[in-house]
Amino acid sequence: MLDKIAIKPTGALRFLLVGDAVGTPGINMCSKWLPRIKAAYQVDSMVVNGENSAKDGKGINNESYQALRAAGADAVSTGNHVWRHNEFHQSLENLAEPVVRPANFPVGCPGKT
Ligand SMILES: [Fe+2]
Repeated sequence: MLDKIAIKPTGALRFLLVGDAVGTPGINMCSKWLPRIKAAYQVDSMVVNGENSAKDGKGINNESYQALRAAGADAVSTGNHVWRHNEFHQSLENLAEPVVRPANFPVGCPGKT
């Protein structure tokens, strides 16, 4: 079965959505496996939910965000725990960083959708 999935039809686009990388174990798993999975299945774009990827599994910080990006995440999605670490608000506001906050929060909340 997996061998058949590995064969990518010409012209096809593959997206891999990964959720929720939680804490250090989640980061370790992503770092180890996502580059292999992305290469093996010729994934074109991968989004990882990182809202609880900080070491203690609560919120996201610069370190865990960078680890997810290094693991091959082309973009990082989040949820209601995204604002726990103030240090990360700057990345959330930075248009050059492919990370988004939930769209269903008031306009004044830090971050972009
Ligand atoms: Fe959440």
